[in-house]
Amino acid sequence: MAHMQWKNETSITKFILLGFGNLNEFQILLFVLFLVIYVLTMAGNLLIVALVVADQQLHTPMYFFLGNLSFLETCYTSVIAPRLLAGFLVEDRTMSYRDCITQLFFFGALASIECSLLAVMAYDRYLAICNPLRYKVMMNLRVCLLLVSASWITGFSASASVVGMVPDLNFCGPKEINNFFCDMEELLKLSCAKSPLVEMTILVSCSLVSLVPFLFIIVSYVLILSAILRIASSARRQKAFSTCASHLLVVSLYYGTIIIMYMTPSAELSPGFHKALSLMYMVVTPMFNPIIYSLRNQEVKGAFRKVIMQNLGMI
Ligand SMILES: *[C@@H]1O[C@H](CO)[C@@H](O)[C@H](O)[C@H]1NC(C)=O
Repeated sequence: MAHMQWKNETSITKFILLGFGNLNEFQILLFVLFLVIYVLTMAGNLLIVALVVADQQLHTPMYFFLGNLSFLETCYTSVIAPRLLAGFLVEDRTMSYRDCITQLFFFGALASIECSLLAVMAYDRYLAICNPLRYKVMMNLRVCLLLVSASWITGFSASASVVGMVPDLNFCGPKEINNFFCDMEELLKLSCAKSPLVEMTILVSCSLVSLVPFLFIIVSYVLILSAILRIASSARRQKAFSTCASHLLVVSLYYGTIIIMYMTPSAELSPGFHKALSLMYMVVTPMFNPIIYSLRNQEVKGAFRKVIMQNLGMI
């Protein structure tokens, strides 16, 4: 009995993250590349948060959501990137069961919050463009706070319900995860207790938190585009479109990779391609969001210029 218990416990204390395998001389190169990406992501997103908080002109729902999205992305990428970077440097590829579950929980929650926030931002643009007269009343500070907190609460609850299932997957055989993070799909493959109920619950929860916001975004943009096309003056049409173009680009980038990843039958998806797509939406897209918003957006650029000027003035 005591022996069984010991065996049960040790059987799940560690996983081995295979990462990208042995890349020899490329290891350092990739380390530097992803370190640069990580530093740029953190700097860009924190800059957006600072601008949104500091600049009075950016105190509107659209920029509050953008600030919240940027803050979220710093957390999101920080759940994945440090471990990825360490994987290029250290030989030890083990990840404790607890670390794996923790990463799974936070990544799942933050990814789900990201989907909801993108939907909230689409709804904000929908109201602003299709309902301009009532926009200020409908999107007041209380509603903004409500939408943001609802995203966080559903994200963490959904993730808890999925991660809560993991102890039911019995890990008795090999414990090698063929990825650079604690990947739910890989955990399911390693499970010895094939439980359709657990797999179903996980599949349903993951689909709900990503697909429902996605459908919401699609509907919002169909309404937005049809409203924009009805605008007679081409100058005003262009202005209306430009306020939502950055968001549309960010949504396409994020959902684009996820859709390619989950729509390709897993038999056809080589592990290398799967890892590359995961890298794309976990580590690379968070870097693009601040770039997309600051390059395309006059107000963000203006706020940035003001900060630079003020600091130059102080010197
Ligand atoms: C997040 O949104 C709330 C209101 O919706 C706002 O008060 C807060 O400043 C935002 N946070 C950031 C970092 O932009």
